[in-house]
Amino acid sequence: MIIYRAQVLDTPESPFTGGALRSSDDAGLAVQDGTIVDRGDFRTIADRHPEAEVVDVRDGVLLPGFVDTHVHYPQVRAIGGLGMPLLDWLDQCALPEECKLEDPEYARTIAGEFLAGLTAAGTTTALVFGSHFADAVDALFAEADRVGVRVTAGLVTSDHNLPEPLLSTPERTYDEGRKLAERWHGHRRLRYAVTPRFSYSTTPAMLASGAALMQDVPGLWFTSHINENPAEIAAVIEQFPGSPNYLDTYHRHGLIHERSVLAHNAHPTDPELALLASAGAAVAHCPTSNSALASGSFPLRRHLDHGVQVALGSDVGAGSGFSLFKEGLQAYFMQQLLMSDGVPLTAAHLLYLATRAGATALGLDDVGDLSTGNQFDAILVRPNSGQPLDVCLRHAASAENALAKIFSLATPADVARVWIGGDEVAA
Ligand code: GUN
Ligand code: ZN
Repeated sequence: MIIYRAQVLDTPESPFTGGALRSSDDAGLAVQDGTIVDRGDFRTIADRHPEAEVVDVRDGVLLPGFVDTHVHYPQVRAIGGLGMPLLDWLDQCALPEECKLEDPEYARTIAGEFLAGLTAAGTTTALVFGSHFADAVDALFAEADRVGVRVTAGLVTSDHNLPEPLLSTPERTYDEGRKLAERWHGHRRLRYAVTPRFSYSTTPAMLASGAALMQDVPGLWFTSHINENPAEIAAVIEQFPGSPNYLDTYHRHGLIHERSVLAHNAHPTDPELALLASAGAAVAHCPTSNSALASGSFPLRRHLDHGVQVALGSDVGAGSGFSLFKEGLQAYFMQQLLMSDGVPLTAAHLLYLATRAGATALGLDDVGDLSTGNQFDAILVRPNSGQPLDVCLRHAASAENALAKIFSLATPADVARVWIGGDEVAA
């Protein structure tokens, strides 16, 4: 057993429903076989477990590992394509890069870069948009398994409106998806997600093939994009004349349920929000992506009013990096700019959105906060001595103020240590 002695901040209860930041200046977290088996004031925990080794990490601030609910594996090298709306950005930046993953050797290199990007940013759990190529998705799972990150991912499926190398057929994607799901779903920390790219690039037959796979392999997840950009939405509505709205294009195939996570939803209708809430589906809010592509301002207030679960996604590579500190801060900025229509977010809200909310959206009850019984998925924020964040933390007025300083200033360079299930990830 190890007792981590630390300043700990986490959000086991949602600040959106009255929960507060939980702050312990000198906590003891007793960890056995990757699980937090006891937690309390350090002295109490040390007395209760006199045989345990003590690891003192009071030189930083311990937070739960981040949960990124929307991030694209093949787009690591596409980050930074500024100045275009969604459909142009896909054509000019994302899709040419994604075509390169047809080469399995290239895909293995990208998988290494992708997992390194996640862990360096302190992301310990992610719902990952995979690749259109089965071998590349296999490489992603293999690398995630090697590094130990909790990854839910799948083969991306499309059968029109994309460059030819990215297209497949409903039959082939079913077969390839089934093989991948049988190999990886439930293997250690990995799970499989049925992943049509978006309705714009799929026919009803392709969506039906994803639904068939979900029927045939129990417990799979579903993820896709929705209501991101006005031109995209108009094209989808034209393509699916039988559907009253974008969500219905998925829902009519039985794809919207408690294991569904949809990215963006910047322009939802009220019936769509009502259906997402009643189905128990979650939305991945991707603030830097929505800003970079000028997709729109996320209507967080309307999501909350309807009772829709919301978590954070980096949306690399439309998003501007892997850090959920940055996504949290950008979410805050965007709500501020919405003035009276925005939700005033505190630092506790940002931590909640980046951790507990994501874990809940992904059905992972034992990660997302550092409570007894949970996995020890944690990050140590420890800025270099003399850096503005270091100075600010030493002069923080309160725990909430320290957390606000962290969200304002922290980058992956400040994430000094990362643990997943008690295993420290190699830097
Ligand atoms: N919609 C379909 N594909 C993508 C993608 O790769 N990124 C974003 N932001 N939206 C999409
Ligand atoms: Zn995306």
